[in-house]
Amino acid sequence: KRRIGVMTSGGDAPGMNGSVRAVVRMALYSNCEAYAIYEGYDGLVKGGDMIKEMQWEDVRGFLSEGGTLIGTARCMEFMQRDGRRTAAKNMILKGIDALVICGGDGSLTGADKFRDEWPSLLEELVEKKELTSEQVAPFKHLNIVGLVGSIDNDLSMTDATIGCYSSLARICEAIDSVDTTATSHQRAFVVETMGRHCGWLTLMAGVATGSDFIFIPEQPAKEGWEGNMLSVIQKHRHLGKRKTIVIVAEGAIDENLNKITPHQIKEILSGAGLDTRVTTLGHVQRGGQPAAYDRMLSTLQGVEAVKAVLEATPETPSPVICMIENKIVRRPLLEAVAQTKKVAEAIERKDFKTAMELRDAE
Ligand code: F6P
Repeated sequence: KRRIGVMTSGGDAPGMNGSVRAVVRMALYSNCEAYAIYEGYDGLVKGGDMIKEMQWEDVRGFLSEGGTLIGTARCMEFMQRDGRRTAAKNMILKGIDALVICGGDGSLTGADKFRDEWPSLLEELVEKKELTSEQVAPFKHLNIVGLVGSIDNDLSMTDATIGCYSSLARICEAIDSVDTTATSHQRAFVVETMGRHCGWLTLMAGVATGSDFIFIPEQPAKEGWEGNMLSVIQKHRHLGKRKTIVIVAEGAIDENLNKITPHQIKEILSGAGLDTRVTTLGHVQRGGQPAAYDRMLSTLQGVEAVKAVLEATPETPSPVICMIENKIVRRPLLEAVAQTKKVAEAIERKDFKTAMELRDAE
């Protein structure tokens, strides 16, 4: 029987548990054994009890739980070759040669590097007499399949990452709450949102809450943005709006790549006579129950991930499971990561038009 491992890595995201549940159950349904690796790559390096065989009922109730119930951690040891060799040994001792990882682009790139090194890691294990050649012989190849779990929706080649719609819903709820108090006092609020270098959460929240103005990394504020923002806000006030909401992505910048901060915007609004407060939403955006969309996305993608493991040949490049125009599809993991990096590079060289185009590309 094939043994398939599943783990969550990087920042948690609502829906990750749904993907663990789907991988475990699809593996069992496909007559394989399923193993959960606890605490991300840390669990792979520690081995033993951190790699636990899972039965159908072990993932009962996972679908509606937020965060990741099998844990996630930053693991320095896995960054070193010695750590990866130990991880390979632990996997072989458990008989696992396929890993489904739900995480961000950094975690998925690490996984593909592990796959690439796998044959040489096994050679080293035999040379160092940590395992015998008989022990390693059945495990010639490592299969890696990526699922993108991140609230940021920052991976190219997929329309939605697991967690982004839950986070968006949480942000909208929070802004709705801010709205009522802002309206009561006729105040202005500057709300800071997460997303690292990606403005998707902010852009969507701006549309979904009808905010007055937003700042995102992909469209840096042009010279004179202060006056532009104030004239938009004043126009809205003249139309009878009793509140002002400006949403600032944590990665927002101006054309010179200087960070735009909520406090800087507060000063400008206060200077224009608006009673202004700053609300930093923080990790509230990442917590809580997954939205229906993320439960569905993680389930369908988890099922597809197991299919991808079972259909893989030694030549198949590691896939990442994506959602494109409402269809679950496989894309080469490394290409998706490379395209994502190009967005950051385009922003760095101030080629904002290309950055926007790359974000939209499949
Ligand atoms: O990638 C998810 C995310 O929540 C980003 O939006 C944010 O920049 C970062 O992680 C925060 O990381 P940490 O939880 O380590 O502070």
